[in-house]
Amino acid sequence: MQLLVLHGPNLNLLGQREPGLYGSSTLVEIDASLVRQATELGVGLACFQSNDEGALVERIQLAAQGEAGQPVDGILINAAAYTHTSVAIRDALLAVAIPFVELHLSNTHARDSFRHRSLLADKALGVICGFGASSYSLALSGLVQQLRARLE
Ligand code: DQA
Repeated sequence: MQLLVLHGPNLNLLGQREPGLYGSSTLVEIDASLVRQATELGVGLACFQSNDEGALVERIQLAAQGEAGQPVDGILINAAAYTHTSVAIRDALLAVAIPFVELHLSNTHARDSFRHRSLLADKALGVICGFGASSYSLALSGLVQQLRARLE
């Protein structure tokens, strides 16, 4: 099983960006921990961050061709601010038809009203938010569990 993790804008600043809200872990630490968890689960995992909407769309399109010579079976996505605005990312995820889990470090429903709406959530296998960096590991285990259940 091969998975792709996508991080949207400003997540490259994790660790220094509003730590009271997003925690002290850096993106490098989060990615390293996800790769460790993936190895324990026996799945392959690639990570990609961009501040650019088009670059995220391109990476989703590329996922349809595979990662590391393997088809991509699932995507974990924290689209950050694009969650609330991007029809293009929604369309790309629908176009490639790869199952995905949406996640957020913060509880977006307990924040500004414009963060309550997600353009991805209704198409996601599931949504996880509010657990800080642990949202990523919870999302990874949930995604692997769902994908494995589909193979049974
Ligand atoms: C976020 C929540 C978004 O509303 C915000 O724009 C982000 C981060 C989160 O992980 O909590 O950049 O996706």
